[in-house]
Amino acid sequence: MTATGDSQHVAAEQANEYGYRDFALGEFRFRRDEYFVYITWPTGSHIMSADAFLRALQRDVAWEFFYGTVNFDGVFGTLNHYGTVDVFAGRFNDAYRKAELDYTENVETPAVRATFSEMLDDWTNSTFDPFASPHETGSAFGVKNGENRAAITRHRVSAKRMVAVPGDEGLRSDDNGHPVNRHFADVPQDEPLVEAEPGFESEVAAFSLFAYLSRSQVTWNPSVVSVCKDSLFCPTTEEYILPIVHGNDRVEWFLQLTDEITWEVEDRESGGVRARVLMKPGDVCAMPADIRHQGYSPKRSMLLVWENAGEEIPDLIASGKTPTYPIDF
Ligand SMILES: [Fe+2]
Repeated sequence: MTATGDSQHVAAEQANEYGYRDFALGEFRFRRDEYFVYITWPTGSHIMSADAFLRALQRDVAWEFFYGTVNFDGVFGTLNHYGTVDVFAGRFNDAYRKAELDYTENVETPAVRATFSEMLDDWTNSTFDPFASPHETGSAFGVKNGENRAAITRHRVSAKRMVAVPGDEGLRSDDNGHPVNRHFADVPQDEPLVEAEPGFESEVAAFSLFAYLSRSQVTWNPSVVSVCKDSLFCPTTEEYILPIVHGNDRVEWFLQLTDEITWEVEDRESGGVRARVLMKPGDVCAMPADIRHQGYSPKRSMLLVWENAGEEIPDLIASGKTPTYPIDF
């Protein structure tokens, strides 16, 4: 079942008995209590743990709904059409579809962004940081208890020029509030020596990506560190579980830089299990364009995600002009 048209964002102003506001987006209704989030739509309903819901919501908001599908779990999520967003329940779940419990609503991106941002703000207590690993944050649970705007609207360190070039403020250090993470205490912090020809001192630079990533405060949040036409290098640090199940709309390359991640890989449409991939340092893999995947990282690890940001790719793949895998051997 799919609904389109005027999906007004209607937020109830009254807090419920637990102190949290109820939210509405089109025909979807969202409510939370001390432990859980309840989602209803015209043909069904769903329940999620509040911490898992907020971790997924935080990524969806921060990533602008990302490439392809952001499954909060096997039932609820968003599908990005880059201008509008499908908010869905059960759409990528064989059992829900066969039972005709699935529902999708196409909403203008600003309306989804506004509702989701308000929900994230209202439902995140002062003790909880949805971007942090479970070991580095307090509880998401209980009745409403303050807010944590500093965490959910975290200032992104953006480079004004390439990292390490004079004039850039992006290089992370103890001085600008980026200590080395406890799991990366063994990562060398020395920077490469650059001997530039006279006159080129401000144009030639290098930095240690390992040292840089060892100071990342957040997990499962790819950051763009280099852009070459449509080629984006997005390294990230990972710990515990990827809070979403990402459904690809293009091939995505992973380079495991340190430690290990186990990937559970499922069919994007049905949720059927396809593979389990254990990646160790130095391993490279290409996730096909027709899967969804969730990673498990037992210790904080470094992962380089390589994306092709070409706008035409989802259509090329959907129409069969481009295969769902990257290469024929
Ligand atoms: Fe992905």
